[in-house]
Amino acid sequence: MTSRYPIAPFPEGWFQVAWSRDLGRRGVLPRRWCGRDVVLYRGESGQAHVLDAYCPHVGAHLGHGGRVHGERIMCPFHGWEMDCSGRCVHVPLVKKIPPRARVGSYPVCEVSGAILAYARPEGAEDSDAAPRWTPQALEGWDDPTWTKPQILEPWRVRTHVQEFGENGVDLGHAVVLHSHITRAAETVFVESDGPVLRHRSRHHYRVFGPLEWLGKKVEGTLETRIDGFGRVAAHARVDAGIQIENRVVFYPTPIDDEWVELNAAVYLRKQSNWLLTRALHAKSVREAKKTIDQDAPIWSNKRYEARPLLVAGEEAMGHYRRWARQFYGAAEAVAGQAS
Ligand code: FES
Ligand SMILES: [Fe+2]
Repeated sequence: MTSRYPIAPFPEGWFQVAWSRDLGRRGVLPRRWCGRDVVLYRGESGQAHVLDAYCPHVGAHLGHGGRVHGERIMCPFHGWEMDCSGRCVHVPLVKKIPPRARVGSYPVCEVSGAILAYARPEGAEDSDAAPRWTPQALEGWDDPTWTKPQILEPWRVRTHVQEFGENGVDLGHAVVLHSHITRAAETVFVESDGPVLRHRSRHHYRVFGPLEWLGKKVEGTLETRIDGFGRVAAHARVDAGIQIENRVVFYPTPIDDEWVELNAAVYLRKQSNWLLTRALHAKSVREAKKTIDQDAPIWSNKRYEARPLLVAGEEAMGHYRRWARQFYGAAEAVAGQAS
């Protein structure tokens, strides 16, 4: 990571590898994920698997030309086959497989249209230990009373994954940088339980301007659920005369020690009128894109402040910073995470 971020670039967490729709049965995709070259493939059972990409034989990339046999992936170069734990289980014409013939593997979880893999904290003592948690299904996803989630074009940002969740609980920037949406906002509660942090805030919105001209105050709540740094789900409930509910889910994934890819999807609770549903869905997508386009240049140029000068009303950010420490190895917690 650039010197702007003196904290480990690859903290513990579930980070998106791909959208489910992009990986068909027996599909194979090369990916750059958490500073590693990996191969993502879907076995014949439908399960997705993530392995380190380079074949232990002489180093071909399994994601470029590899083929799926059952739950195994076959290297395109000399046909060695790795099972989903990364162990080589077949070498053509050879009975004795070298014991060191294996590649690293990562726990995978596929939920609500996304394939996520688990990165252990750097220096984790037991590299085979089960993940501390698994992300749960998102409310409203695959639910006919909500619109079909619209997946947005990803952003690439030169920053650190810790920034995205922090943005979700940072109300001070909402009324300045995103002032086209929010006039005023305050925290109702912030709480965390292990790797999950929840924040609820009350908002006075500016986003439905014409209603304000009619004397209607548009208010609502925004509930943000953060599952480690890898998934930030925001659920807005807005009273604009009609009740509007939308959800935006963000998946920040560290690509290498400089770049983060941000994927997002937007969906909305259907109104009884489909034209209104369509218009509100389109508006939600527009606003979500605009918001990230506003945040991205800030993220790309800011630096990490280990001791931010938080002021009244920013207690949720302090909570977030303390909560964030758990995703780093012990040495890192001492070096870069002072509050
Ligand atoms: S490099 Fe993969 S089988 Fe030879
Ligand atoms: Fe923002």
